[in-house]
Amino acid sequence: MRVDQFEPLTDTDSMRACYRIMEAARPVDHPFLQPQSFEGFSHWWQLAGRPQQAWLASSDSGEPVGFCQLVLPDRDNVAVAFAALVVSPIRRRAGIGTALLAHCGGQARRAGRNLLASTDLTRAKVRDGSPGGRFSATVGARTGLAELISIQELSQELLGRLGELRSAATRSAAGYELVSWRGPTPAEHLEQTTRVGAAMSDAPRDAGREPDTWDADRVMATQQAAAAAGMHLYSVAARRSGTSEFAAITQLSLDPRSPETASQGITVVRPRDRGHRLGLLVKIVMLDLVIQHEPALRHIMTGNAESNVHMTRINAELGYEVRGVYRSWELDLPAGVV
Ligand SMILES: CC(C)(COP(=O)(O)OP(=O)(O)OC[C@H]1O[C@@H](n2cnc3c(N)ncnc32)[C@H](O)[C@@H]1OP(=O)(O)O)[C@@H](O)C(=O)NCCC(=O)NCCS
Repeated sequence: MRVDQFEPLTDTDSMRACYRIMEAARPVDHPFLQPQSFEGFSHWWQLAGRPQQAWLASSDSGEPVGFCQLVLPDRDNVAVAFAALVVSPIRRRAGIGTALLAHCGGQARRAGRNLLASTDLTRAKVRDGSPGGRFSATVGARTGLAELISIQELSQELLGRLGELRSAATRSAAGYELVSWRGPTPAEHLEQTTRVGAAMSDAPRDAGREPDTWDADRVMATQQAAAAAGMHLYSVAARRSGTSEFAAITQLSLDPRSPETASQGITVVRPRDRGHRLGLLVKIVMLDLVIQHEPALRHIMTGNAESNVHMTRINAELGYEVRGVYRSWELDLPAGVV
Protein backbone atom coordinates (compact mmCIF):
# COMPACT_ATOMS: atom_id res chain seq x y z
CA MET A 1 0.00 0.00 0.00
CA ARG A 2 1.13 3.58 -0.64
CA VAL A 3 -0.15 6.84 0.79
CA ASP A 4 0.07 9.94 -1.42
CA GLN A 5 -0.69 13.53 -0.58
CA PHE A 6 -2.95 15.38 -3.01
CA GLU A 7 -4.28 18.87 -3.52
CA PRO A 8 -8.07 18.75 -2.97
CA LEU A 9 -8.84 21.94 -4.91
CA THR A 10 -7.15 20.84 -8.14
CA ASP A 11 -6.76 17.05 -8.09
CA THR A 12 -10.27 16.03 -9.14
CA ASP A 13 -9.33 12.37 -9.77
CA SER A 14 -8.18 11.89 -6.19
CA MET A 15 -11.20 13.75 -4.83
CA ARG A 16 -13.49 11.52 -6.91
CA ALA A 17 -11.72 8.44 -5.56
CA CYS A 18 -12.36 9.68 -1.98
CA TYR A 19 -15.98 10.45 -2.88
CA ARG A 20 -16.55 6.94 -4.24
CA ILE A 21 -15.10 5.41 -1.06
CA MET A 22 -17.29 7.63 1.12
CA GLU A 23 -20.48 6.83 -0.80
CA ALA A 24 -19.73 3.09 -0.98
CA ALA A 25 -19.35 3.10 2.80
CA ARG A 26 -22.45 5.20 3.50
CA PRO A 27 -24.92 2.30 3.96
CA VAL A 28 -22.62 0.84 6.63
CA ASP A 29 -21.28 3.99 8.28
CA HIS A 30 -24.21 6.43 7.99
CA PRO A 31 -27.28 4.32 7.13
CA PHE A 32 -29.81 7.07 7.87
CA LEU A 33 -28.02 9.93 6.09
CA GLN A 34 -28.86 10.71 2.47
CA PRO A 35 -26.20 10.28 -0.25
CA GLN A 36 -24.21 13.38 -1.12
CA SER A 37 -23.42 14.73 -4.57
CA PHE A 38 -19.75 14.97 -5.56
CA GLU A 39 -20.02 18.75 -5.37
CA GLY A 40 -21.54 18.49 -1.88
CA PHE A 41 -18.72 16.18 -0.82
CA SER A 42 -16.06 18.56 -2.17
CA HIS A 43 -17.72 21.40 -0.32
CA TRP A 44 -17.85 19.34 2.90
CA TRP A 45 -14.13 18.84 2.48
CA GLN A 46 -13.50 22.57 2.14
CA LEU A 47 -15.63 23.40 5.17
CA ALA A 48 -12.55 22.76 7.24
CA GLY A 49 -11.55 26.31 6.22
CA ARG A 50 -8.15 25.83 7.86
CA PRO A 51 -4.74 24.54 6.84
CA GLN A 52 -5.06 20.88 5.95
CA GLN A 53 -3.46 17.89 4.28
CA ALA A 54 -5.26 15.36 2.08
CA TRP A 55 -3.98 11.78 1.79
CA LEU A 56 -5.11 8.96 -0.50
CA ALA A 57 -4.13 5.35 0.21
CA SER A 58 -3.84 2.98 -2.79
CA SER A 59 -3.16 -0.72 -3.10
CA ASP A 60 -0.01 -1.91 -4.87
CA SER A 61 -2.11 -2.27 -8.04
CA GLY A 62 -3.18 1.40 -7.80
CA GLU A 63 -6.72 0.89 -6.51
CA PRO A 64 -7.78 3.66 -4.07
CA VAL A 65 -8.53 1.97 -0.73
CA GLY A 66 -8.83 4.76 1.82
CA PHE A 67 -8.29 8.42 2.55
CA CYS A 68 -7.53 10.80 5.35
CA GLN A 69 -8.20 14.51 5.68
CA LEU A 70 -5.92 16.04 8.30
CA VAL A 71 -6.88 19.52 9.51
CA LEU A 72 -4.19 21.56 11.27
CA PRO A 73 -5.78 24.66 12.85
CA ASP A 74 -3.50 27.69 13.10
CA ARG A 75 -5.63 30.06 15.17
CA ASP A 76 -7.32 27.93 17.82
CA ASN A 77 -6.59 24.37 19.00
CA VAL A 78 -3.04 24.71 17.68
CA ALA A 79 -1.83 21.61 19.56
CA VAL A 80 -4.53 19.46 17.93
CA ALA A 81 -4.70 17.76 14.51
CA PHE A 82 -8.22 16.80 13.42
CA ALA A 83 -8.56 13.73 11.23
CA ALA A 84 -11.29 12.21 9.08
CA LEU A 85 -10.24 8.69 8.11
CA VAL A 86 -12.24 6.33 5.87
CA VAL A 87 -11.36 2.92 4.39
CA SER A 88 -13.20 1.40 1.44
CA PRO A 89 -15.83 -1.01 2.83
CA ILE A 90 -14.53 -3.92 0.74
CA ARG A 91 -10.98 -3.37 2.06
CA ARG A 92 -11.68 -3.29 5.77
CA ARG A 93 -10.17 -5.51 8.48
CA ALA A 94 -6.90 -5.74 6.54
CA GLY A 95 -4.87 -3.21 8.55
CA ILE A 96 -5.38 -0.24 6.20
CA GLY A 97 -7.13 1.87 8.86
CA THR A 98 -4.32 1.19 11.33
CA ALA A 99 -1.68 2.11 8.73
CA LEU A 100 -3.48 5.34 7.73
CA LEU A 101 -3.91 6.30 11.37
CA ALA A 102 -0.18 5.78 11.97
CA HIS A 103 0.59 7.85 8.88
CA CYS A 104 -1.67 10.72 9.95
CA GLY A 105 -0.38 10.55 13.51
CA GLY A 106 3.17 10.90 12.18
CA GLN A 107 2.19 13.87 10.00
CA ALA A 108 0.40 15.50 12.93
CA ARG A 109 3.43 15.07 15.14
CA ARG A 110 5.65 16.54 12.42
CA ALA A 111 3.31 19.55 12.41
CA GLY A 112 3.92 19.98 16.15
CA ARG A 113 0.62 18.52 17.41
CA ASN A 114 0.31 16.42 20.54
CA LEU A 115 -3.29 15.29 20.06
CA LEU A 116 -5.05 13.61 17.13
CA ALA A 117 -8.83 14.01 17.25
CA SER A 118 -11.87 13.61 15.06
CA THR A 119 -13.05 16.86 13.52
CA ASP A 120 -16.21 18.70 14.50
CA LEU A 121 -16.26 20.74 11.34
CA THR A 122 -16.83 17.89 8.95
CA ARG A 123 -18.87 15.80 11.38
CA ALA A 124 -16.26 13.08 10.94
CA LYS A 125 -17.19 11.55 14.24
CA VAL A 126 -17.84 7.92 14.83
CA ARG A 127 -21.34 6.49 15.04
CA ASP A 128 -22.00 4.37 18.09
CA GLY A 129 -22.18 0.73 16.96
CA SER A 130 -20.36 1.35 13.63
CA PRO A 131 -17.07 -0.22 12.49
CA GLY A 132 -15.39 3.10 13.32
CA GLY A 133 -16.63 2.85 16.92
CA ARG A 134 -15.10 -0.60 17.31
CA PHE A 135 -11.88 0.51 15.60
CA SER A 136 -11.59 3.57 17.91
CA ALA A 137 -11.95 1.34 20.96
CA THR A 138 -9.33 -1.07 19.60
CA VAL A 139 -6.73 1.64 19.01
CA GLY A 140 -7.28 3.00 22.51
CA ALA A 141 -8.91 6.31 21.58
CA ARG A 142 -10.79 8.26 24.26
CA THR A 143 -14.30 9.17 23.23
CA GLY A 144 -15.84 12.56 23.92
CA LEU A 145 -19.23 14.24 23.83
CA ALA A 146 -22.14 12.40 22.27
CA GLU A 147 -23.66 14.21 19.29
CA LEU A 148 -27.25 13.40 18.37
CA ILE A 149 -27.97 13.34 14.66
CA SER A 150 -31.65 14.12 14.14
CA ILE A 151 -33.92 14.42 11.14
CA GLN A 152 -37.05 16.53 10.75
CA GLU A 153 -39.42 14.92 8.23
CA LEU A 154 -41.61 17.60 6.66
CA SER A 155 -45.32 16.79 6.50
CA GLN A 156 -48.57 18.74 6.34
CA GLU A 157 -49.35 17.59 9.87
CA LEU A 158 -46.03 18.98 11.15
CA LEU A 159 -46.44 22.28 9.32
CA GLY A 160 -49.94 22.70 10.75
CA ARG A 161 -48.67 22.09 14.27
CA LEU A 162 -45.78 24.51 13.79
CA GLY A 163 -48.24 27.29 12.96
CA GLU A 164 -49.55 27.20 16.56
CA LEU A 165 -46.04 26.98 17.96
CA ARG A 166 -45.03 29.98 15.89
CA SER A 167 -47.88 32.11 17.27
CA ALA A 168 -46.87 31.30 20.85
CA ALA A 169 -43.17 31.97 20.15
CA THR A 170 -44.02 35.27 18.42
CA ARG A 171 -45.86 36.41 21.57
CA SER A 172 -42.86 35.48 23.76
CA ALA A 173 -40.54 37.32 21.39
CA ALA A 174 -42.48 40.60 21.47
CA GLY A 175 -40.04 43.47 20.99
CA TYR A 176 -37.90 41.58 18.48
CA GLU A 177 -38.07 41.72 14.70
CA LEU A 178 -36.84 39.22 12.12
CA VAL A 179 -34.58 39.66 9.14
CA SER A 180 -33.72 36.97 6.60
CA TRP A 181 -31.63 36.55 3.48
CA ARG A 182 -30.55 33.97 0.93
CA GLY A 183 -26.98 33.38 -0.22
CA PRO A 184 -23.81 34.75 1.39
CA THR A 185 -24.38 37.29 4.17
CA PRO A 186 -24.68 40.79 2.68
CA ALA A 187 -22.12 43.36 3.83
CA GLU A 188 -24.72 45.20 5.94
CA HIS A 189 -25.26 42.11 8.14
CA LEU A 190 -21.72 40.74 8.22
CA GLU A 191 -20.52 42.31 11.46
CA GLN A 192 -23.67 41.37 13.38
CA THR A 193 -23.66 37.84 11.98
CA THR A 194 -20.06 37.39 13.13
CA ARG A 195 -20.83 38.79 16.60
CA VAL A 196 -23.90 36.69 17.26
CA GLY A 197 -22.12 33.63 15.83
CA ALA A 198 -19.38 34.12 18.44
CA ALA A 199 -22.00 33.28 21.10
CA MET A 200 -21.63 29.66 19.89
CA SER A 201 -18.52 29.61 22.09
CA ASP A 202 -20.62 28.51 25.08
CA ALA A 203 -22.16 25.54 23.23
CA PRO A 204 -20.94 22.22 24.70
CA ARG A 205 -17.65 21.01 23.25
CA ASP A 206 -15.13 18.33 24.07
CA ALA A 207 -12.94 18.82 27.14
CA GLY A 208 -9.71 20.65 26.39
CA ARG A 209 -11.03 21.99 23.07
CA GLU A 210 -11.10 25.75 22.35
CA PRO A 211 -14.04 27.32 20.50
CA ASP A 212 -13.46 28.06 16.82
CA THR A 213 -12.21 31.55 16.12
CA TRP A 214 -14.59 33.36 13.79
CA ASP A 215 -14.18 36.81 12.28
CA ALA A 216 -15.91 38.59 9.42
CA ASP A 217 -13.26 37.47 6.92
CA ARG A 218 -13.69 33.80 7.86
CA VAL A 219 -17.50 34.04 7.76
CA MET A 220 -17.30 35.66 4.33
CA ALA A 221 -14.72 33.20 2.97
CA THR A 222 -16.72 30.19 4.18
CA GLN A 223 -19.96 31.45 2.69
CA GLN A 224 -18.39 32.47 -0.59
CA ALA A 225 -16.85 29.01 -0.90
CA ALA A 226 -20.30 27.49 -0.27
CA ALA A 227 -21.90 29.74 -2.89
CA ALA A 228 -19.13 28.93 -5.39
CA ALA A 229 -19.86 25.23 -4.81
CA GLY A 230 -23.47 25.95 -5.77
CA MET A 231 -24.88 25.48 -2.27
CA HIS A 232 -28.10 27.33 -1.42
CA LEU A 233 -27.68 29.26 1.85
CA TYR A 234 -30.43 30.61 4.08
CA SER A 235 -30.19 32.81 7.19
CA VAL A 236 -32.80 34.13 9.62
CA ALA A 237 -31.80 36.54 12.39
CA ALA A 238 -33.73 38.29 15.18
CA ARG A 239 -32.88 41.73 16.52
CA ARG A 240 -34.41 43.99 19.12
CA SER A 241 -36.85 46.21 17.25
CA GLY A 242 -35.32 49.53 16.33
CA THR A 243 -31.73 48.39 16.84
CA SER A 244 -29.21 46.84 14.49
CA GLU A 245 -27.85 44.31 17.00
CA PHE A 246 -28.59 40.67 16.26
CA ALA A 247 -29.89 38.69 19.22
CA ALA A 248 -30.21 35.33 17.44
CA ILE A 249 -29.43 33.66 14.15
CA THR A 250 -30.04 30.35 12.41
CA GLN A 251 -28.45 29.20 9.16
CA LEU A 252 -29.18 26.33 6.82
CA SER A 253 -27.71 25.03 3.58
CA LEU A 254 -29.01 22.84 0.79
CA ASP A 255 -27.23 21.20 -2.11
CA PRO A 256 -29.50 21.62 -5.18
CA ARG A 257 -28.05 18.34 -6.56
CA SER A 258 -29.75 16.53 -3.65
CA PRO A 259 -32.64 18.92 -3.02
CA GLU A 260 -34.66 16.66 -0.71
CA THR A 261 -32.34 17.24 2.25
CA ALA A 262 -31.14 20.42 3.91
CA SER A 263 -28.47 20.67 6.60
CA GLN A 264 -28.98 22.81 9.63
CA GLY A 265 -26.02 25.11 10.35
CA ILE A 266 -25.61 27.13 13.53
CA THR A 267 -28.53 28.27 15.67
CA VAL A 268 -27.52 30.63 18.44
CA VAL A 269 -29.14 33.16 20.77
CA ARG A 270 -26.96 35.70 22.58
CA PRO A 271 -26.88 34.99 26.34
CA ARG A 272 -28.69 38.20 27.30
CA ASP A 273 -31.53 37.49 24.86
CA ARG A 274 -32.22 33.92 25.94
CA GLY A 275 -35.59 32.94 27.40
CA HIS A 276 -37.78 34.65 24.74
CA ARG A 277 -38.24 31.58 22.50
CA LEU A 278 -36.04 33.21 19.86
CA GLY A 279 -34.25 29.92 19.07
CA LEU A 280 -37.56 28.25 18.28
CA LEU A 281 -38.92 31.26 16.39
CA VAL A 282 -35.97 31.72 14.04
CA LYS A 283 -36.05 28.00 13.18
CA ILE A 284 -39.79 28.06 12.38
CA VAL A 285 -39.38 31.17 10.25
CA MET A 286 -36.44 29.48 8.54
CA LEU A 287 -38.65 26.54 7.67
CA ASP A 288 -41.19 28.87 6.01
CA LEU A 289 -38.41 30.55 4.05
CA VAL A 290 -36.73 27.39 2.83
CA ILE A 291 -39.99 25.63 1.90
CA GLN A 292 -40.97 28.65 -0.17
CA HIS A 293 -37.77 28.38 -2.23
CA GLU A 294 -37.06 24.64 -2.20
CA PRO A 295 -40.16 22.75 -3.36
CA ALA A 296 -38.37 19.36 -3.37
CA LEU A 297 -37.31 19.63 0.29
CA ARG A 298 -38.45 16.65 2.41
CA HIS A 299 -36.18 16.57 5.46
CA ILE A 300 -33.71 18.62 7.45
CA MET A 301 -30.73 17.09 9.22
CA THR A 302 -29.11 18.50 12.34
CA GLY A 303 -26.46 17.49 14.87
CA ASN A 304 -26.35 18.67 18.47
CA ALA A 305 -24.41 17.74 21.58
CA GLU A 306 -26.62 15.47 23.68
CA SER A 307 -25.86 17.67 26.69
CA ASN A 308 -27.21 20.76 24.90
CA VAL A 309 -30.64 20.32 26.46
CA HIS A 310 -32.05 23.65 25.32
CA MET A 311 -31.33 22.94 21.66
CA THR A 312 -32.43 19.32 21.77
CA ARG A 313 -35.70 20.35 23.45
CA ILE A 314 -36.37 22.90 20.71
CA ASN A 315 -35.63 20.27 18.08
CA ALA A 316 -38.04 17.81 19.73
CA GLU A 317 -40.77 20.49 19.64
CA LEU A 318 -40.01 20.98 15.95
CA GLY A 319 -40.53 17.29 15.24
CA TYR A 320 -36.87 16.25 14.91
CA GLU A 321 -36.26 12.57 15.65
CA VAL A 322 -32.90 11.24 16.78
CA ARG A 323 -31.53 8.70 14.26
CA GLY A 324 -28.02 8.10 15.54
CA VAL A 325 -25.46 8.98 18.17
CA TYR A 326 -22.02 10.06 17.03
CA ARG A 327 -19.00 10.54 19.22
CA SER A 328 -15.70 12.33 18.85
CA TRP A 329 -12.50 10.46 19.66
CA GLU A 330 -8.94 11.51 20.47
CA LEU A 331 -5.50 9.97 20.80
CA ASP A 332 -2.45 11.41 22.51
CA LEU A 333 0.65 11.83 20.34
CA PRO A 334 3.17 10.32 20.53
CA ALA A 335 1.46 8.07 23.06
CA GLY A 336 -1.22 5.71 21.72
CA VAL A 337 -0.82 3.62 18.62
CA VAL A 338 1.09 6.11 16.47
C1 LIG B 1 -12.57 2.77 11.14
C2 LIG B 1 -11.98 2.28 9.84
C3 LIG B 1 -11.09 3.39 9.27
C4 LIG B 1 -11.12 1.03 10.13
O1 LIG B 1 -10.47 0.63 8.94
P1 LIG B 1 -9.87 -0.87 8.78
O2 LIG B 1 -8.94 -0.82 7.64
O3 LIG B 1 -10.99 -1.85 8.72
O4 LIG B 1 -9.09 -1.02 10.15
P2 LIG B 1 -8.04 -2.18 10.55
O5 LIG B 1 -8.12 -3.32 9.60
O6 LIG B 1 -6.72 -1.54 10.70
O7 LIG B 1 -8.60 -2.64 11.98
C5 LIG B 1 -7.79 -2.68 13.14
C6 LIG B 1 -8.56 -3.32 14.27
O8 LIG B 1 -9.70 -2.51 14.66
C7 LIG B 1 -10.77 -3.39 15.06
N1 LIG B 1 -11.90 -3.25 14.14
C8 LIG B 1 -11.94 -2.56 12.99
N2 LIG B 1 -13.17 -2.67 12.43
C9 LIG B 1 -13.89 -3.48 13.22
C10 LIG B 1 -15.22 -3.98 13.19
N3 LIG B 1 -16.04 -3.69 12.15
N4 LIG B 1 -15.65 -4.77 14.19
C11 LIG B 1 -14.83 -5.10 15.22
N5 LIG B 1 -13.55 -4.65 15.31
C12 LIG B 1 -13.10 -3.84 14.33
C13 LIG B 1 -10.22 -4.80 14.99
O9 LIG B 1 -9.63 -5.10 16.25
C14 LIG B 1 -9.16 -4.67 13.93
O10 LIG B 1 -8.18 -5.68 14.00
P3 LIG B 1 -8.53 -7.15 13.44
O11 LIG B 1 -9.17 -7.00 12.09
O12 LIG B 1 -7.18 -7.80 13.36
O13 LIG B 1 -9.45 -7.79 14.43
C15 LIG B 1 -13.09 1.87 8.83
O14 LIG B 1 -14.00 0.98 9.44
C16 LIG B 1 -13.86 3.05 8.33
O15 LIG B 1 -13.48 3.65 7.32
N6 LIG B 1 -14.97 3.44 9.01
C17 LIG B 1 -15.75 4.62 8.66
C18 LIG B 1 -15.07 5.94 9.04
C19 LIG B 1 -14.67 6.00 10.49
O16 LIG B 1 -15.43 5.69 11.38
N7 LIG B 1 -13.43 6.47 10.69
C20 LIG B 1 -12.83 6.53 12.00
C21 LIG B 1 -12.86 7.89 12.60
S1 LIG B 1 -12.65 9.30 11.59
